[in-house]
Amino acid sequence: MTQHTEFAHVVDRVRRLLPVQPEVALILGSGLGALAEAVEHAVALSVTEIPGYPPSTVEGHAGRLIGGYLEGCPVVVVQGRVHCYEGHSPQAVAFPVRLVHALGAQRLIVTNAAGALNPHFRPGMLMFLVDHINAAFRSPLVGALQHCPQPFWRGSPDLSAPYDLAWIEAAEQLALQLRIPTCRGVYLWTLGPSYETKAEIRMYRRMGADAVGMSTVPEVIQARQLGMRVLGISTLTNMAAGMQQGPLTHEEVLAVGFQVRDRLERLLRGIIRQLYAKKF
Ligand code: HPA
Repeated sequence: MTQHTEFAHVVDRVRRLLPVQPEVALILGSGLGALAEAVEHAVALSVTEIPGYPPSTVEGHAGRLIGGYLEGCPVVVVQGRVHCYEGHSPQAVAFPVRLVHALGAQRLIVTNAAGALNPHFRPGMLMFLVDHINAAFRSPLVGALQHCPQPFWRGSPDLSAPYDLAWIEAAEQLALQLRIPTCRGVYLWTLGPSYETKAEIRMYRRMGADAVGMSTVPEVIQARQLGMRVLGISTLTNMAAGMQQGPLTHEEVLAVGFQVRDRLERLLRGIIRQLYAKKF
């Protein structure tokens, strides 16, 4: 059996188990998975039931795919992002994106926790990604011709506008109405799993990054190659290394993510409501 027919079997199996055709897929980051609990008429699949799904090894990442409705809109929530720093290839990290796209999702919302590099930003702020820098220098599309046969390979995808500006503008309007402070910025992907050195942060600031994190970019590259429209939101959990007192801990990142989760949930619900009502 080819990789392609194997994938088609997996998609068939998931489609039979999840009774929705999602309009939008959400990939929820570290400690930001609470919205998954709010999905109505939810059917949850453990990722261990999905052949080919890379196993998650990180605390705070329950590996589940949840199909159902949010604000009336059919959604699929990926609560179980995997990262390259867990030892997975970028191709494996992008597997959930290929899966949700094959289930019918034309749009992708990705959230993550990130450290702020822009001195005007503060922990607890939500940042819309307007662009990214791939400082891990890895791509899920390397070798894609092998696992994605000719009709699906449309050449090197354009990444001059990976994040959908019209969607960002609509989401910003909504955030304003909801009185949720947001900002825009460039997200830089590092491989991790260690946090950055102060010298690296100085370099990343000069490169034009506003926030730094260890996820999102491989999924976004895959989503753009598949033609999905993408919205990315970072929860800024801390000022990056050297920009705040003392060392940075995973607990601090999770704690700030937890503090702002209500805000993020209200914003995401609004965005989905807006999208379902075709308001932009
Ligand atoms: N660096 C990298 N990843 C992160 C950070 C950070 O400062 N905060 C949350 N995720």
